[in-house]
Amino acid sequence: MPLPLDQPQSGAELYEGLNSVLQRHGHQAHGLIEVLNHAQQLYGHLSEPLLRHIARQLQLPFSRVQGTASFYHLFRFKAPARHSCLVCTGTACHVLGAAQLLADLRNAAMEELGVELGSVRCIGTCSGAPLVVVDGEVWNHLSSAAVLKRLRELEP
Ligand code: FES
Repeated sequence: MPLPLDQPQSGAELYEGLNSVLQRHGHQAHGLIEVLNHAQQLYGHLSEPLLRHIARQLQLPFSRVQGTASFYHLFRFKAPARHSCLVCTGTACHVLGAAQLLADLRNAAMEELGVELGSVRCIGTCSGAPLVVVDGEVWNHLSSAAVLKRLRELEP
């Protein structure tokens, strides 16, 4: 028997978007994968409170819900990054400090800024070295501090 959603309980209102898929499966364990998939589509990723809510609604142990979700590579457990920052590691950029730039950015709190950090080989605009590509835009001739300052100024 599912927990009644009109009773005070953690996550019931927050996750009410899941009600239809939970009801379609009669709050039964056989609907777990579809519920997880639907939850990720709705909320972007499967946070621990969301997994706990699903476990309660399907009357499953949290460990089973978490274990099932982690078995499949399609499920994410952290919010996707809002921005991407690729450091060019081609020869010209390397000579002008790309390795240090990449290291400095790795040491910064990219996750807190919502930035996914990566690297890319020469993008063909070596006169701008060292450079980074942020959300598809090329930023030329910037120090680590300047890149970090501009990343902090991005829309959240
Ligand atoms: S090496 Fe960085 S753009 Fe060419």
